[in-house]
Amino acid sequence: MEIIQPLRIGKLVAINSILQGAMGLYVSRKLQKPAMKEGCISTASGICFLGQTRNFVELANEALVKEIRDSRDSVDDPLAVNVMEVLGNARELVKTAVAERVRMLVVGAGLWMDLPRHVEDTEVALVPIVGNVRATNLILRNWDRKYGRVPGAVIVEGPLAGGHLGHSLADLADPENVCLERIIPAVLQVIEPYQQKYGIKIPVIAAGGIHDGHDMARMLRLGASGVQIATSFVVCDECTAHPNFKQMYLDCTEDDLVVIKSPVGMPAKAIVNPFVRGLASNVATRVVCPYHCLKSCKREQALYCIAERLTMAYNGDVTNGLVFAGAKAHLLKKTTTVRGVIQGLLADLKEEGFVPSVPLT
Ligand SMILES: Cc1cc2nc3c(=O)[nH]c(=O)nc-3n(C[C@H](O)[C@H](O)[C@H](O)COP(=O)(O)O)c2cc1C
Ligand code: SF4
Repeated sequence: MEIIQPLRIGKLVAINSILQGAMGLYVSRKLQKPAMKEGCISTASGICFLGQTRNFVELANEALVKEIRDSRDSVDDPLAVNVMEVLGNARELVKTAVAERVRMLVVGAGLWMDLPRHVEDTEVALVPIVGNVRATNLILRNWDRKYGRVPGAVIVEGPLAGGHLGHSLADLADPENVCLERIIPAVLQVIEPYQQKYGIKIPVIAAGGIHDGHDMARMLRLGASGVQIATSFVVCDECTAHPNFKQMYLDCTEDDLVVIKSPVGMPAKAIVNPFVRGLASNVATRVVCPYHCLKSCKREQALYCIAERLTMAYNGDVTNGLVFAGAKAHLLKKTTTVRGVIQGLLADLKEEGFVPSVPLT
């Protein structure tokens, strides 16, 4: 039997070594408490408000404060906040989360080179999401040289993840070579000299396509300290996405999971529907840019407003909205609960010869 050590990231601990990944535009909003109850570190999405452009930053900050306070019972709960680097108000959201004493920030959709400058408190673990060795190198070298700091952990998101992907279209077309099985060992090598220099462990978390405990066992054997999971939590009763959104997950086939171009400037994984089919014809919809939320979104060139389309899908319009999902969504065949997902993973892990160091009920 191999022992699964609790995953420690700065002050936070996931006793089952699982992170519940953030799912933006509201999908993960009520998953925090149940995921933490099951022993996960849970990540709240930093995007809690989209609305009028006047006072947008202020209102988005207020919404994040409410989200954080609603998501945990105490500041000691293992709650992280996800902030997408591409958001125009990313810095303000980071400041707000730190002021609320959130001790872990997960930063995705872009490499945030000067993040340590905005978070002086070294007790806040800064956790970048990276897709490859190059991105890992850039972040570690920059943070080390300029700020004398290293990440609290590194989340390595492979091409099977849902939502935005830190991989080029060419990489996504080469699954033999661009897969977690290859990226994780290479990232571990990049990290090693920094672990030596700072005398600390920098846990590597595998994300993207971790559907069951057998997938998780494979990642642990590669040297990952834990996994991040998102897609499987969508079909949980606790997830507040509209039943139509969940049904898209339950009905989709492997061929329905496609990569699209996002106005964020990255590819993204979604379930095919009439809206996605329409994108193939490259015909722009009328983009009014209601919130000015993204730095990278060029309204004149954007084919659609992603904020609007994601919100439509979350609210149940799965014909005109955009349904993000990971590449293993087609394996989800029935609704469950957060506890059901975690218990299923732990049972598979046991079969694989892994047991948690502390009994999980
Ligand atoms: C519906 C959906 C929305 C997502 N939104 C975000 C997001 O806002 N920010 C982010 O960093 N990652 C986002 N992700 C990525 C997840 O947090 C996670 O890392 C990834 O999907 C893990 O792979 P899995 O879905 O195969 O388990 C999203 C994923 C999904 C499925
Ligand atoms: S058009 Fe782009 S920047 Fe404007 S609200 Fe939509 S996603 Fe945000």
